[in-house]
Amino acid sequence: MKIITFANHKGGVGKTTTVANVGYALAHHYNKRTLLVDTDPQTNLTAHFGVYERPENTIYEVLRATASIAEATTQLSPMLHLVPSSLDVTNSEAELQSVTGREFLLREALEHVSGYDAILIDTPPSLGLLTVNAFTASTDVCIVVQTEFFALQGLAKLYEIIGIVQKRTNPKLAVSGVIATMFDRRKGMHCEALQALETQFPHELFPTHISEVIALAEAASAGRSIFEYKPTSKAAEQYSEIAQTIVQRIL
Ligand SMILES: Nc1ncnc2c1ncn2[C@@H]1O[C@H](COP(=O)(O)OP(=O)(O)OP(=O)(O)O)[C@@H](O)[C@H]1O
Ligand SMILES: [Mg+2]
Repeated sequence: MKIITFANHKGGVGKTTTVANVGYALAHHYNKRTLLVDTDPQTNLTAHFGVYERPENTIYEVLRATASIAEATTQLSPMLHLVPSSLDVTNSEAELQSVTGREFLLREALEHVSGYDAILIDTPPSLGLLTVNAFTASTDVCIVVQTEFFALQGLAKLYEIIGIVQKRTNPKLAVSGVIATMFDRRKGMHCEALQALETQFPHELFPTHISEVIALAEAASAGRSIFEYKPTSKAAEQYSEIAQTIVQRIL
């Protein structure tokens, strides 16, 4: 069972949009039993699937070990399940700071989970304890990058943290993909950023790039995937291709 974290401590680059739509495509186009895990106190992934009321059990209770993953799981469809987040997770970093083995809490919770082909973890825009828990629990990382001028800035810091995790808590963690998002080929700066990504990550960069498409934001605010909201859009086709690459390369 592959556990894939989608990461970038830069905010607003398309992590949550990618987890939501790739998750939907894996489950509904590629017949993969998929569990999505929202570790972000912003709860954007949770809201993306129309879960607006706080469920009794969320990732907050899972990290505090007062609920299991199974107890916190919501069925979005027979093939697609979600562990929602909650605003309370804001307090988790401070509350868990004194817990021994605090980097391993999510890994331990996921150890009891079976029956999925893929688990996708959405992370907050930081490299704190929540993201380190996600890296420690994962087999693979996909880095989500916006194709803009500062795209590569900050990736050195991300790699540094991944390196520390590989050394101390999860030697098997692999960086298996770089996904370029919000790409507009008419913008010179976007093309330059994409070229820089191709040079820097010749093997990791996925062949499909996600275009800048307003329907993705509209779908999120409607609490639906792009496949339900606008199935004929370019972004729907692109996210289906990203899911296909994940099936071929990782699953
Ligand atoms: N390809 C795209 N084209 C246009 N808008 C997009 C695209 N991808 C995401 N968006 C929008 O951009 C905003 C940020 O996207 P998203 O929430 O997925 O980023 P994030 O990396 O998860 O952010 P955060 O770091 O805050 O968690 C959202 O409003 C989203 O709907
Ligand atoms: Mg997000």
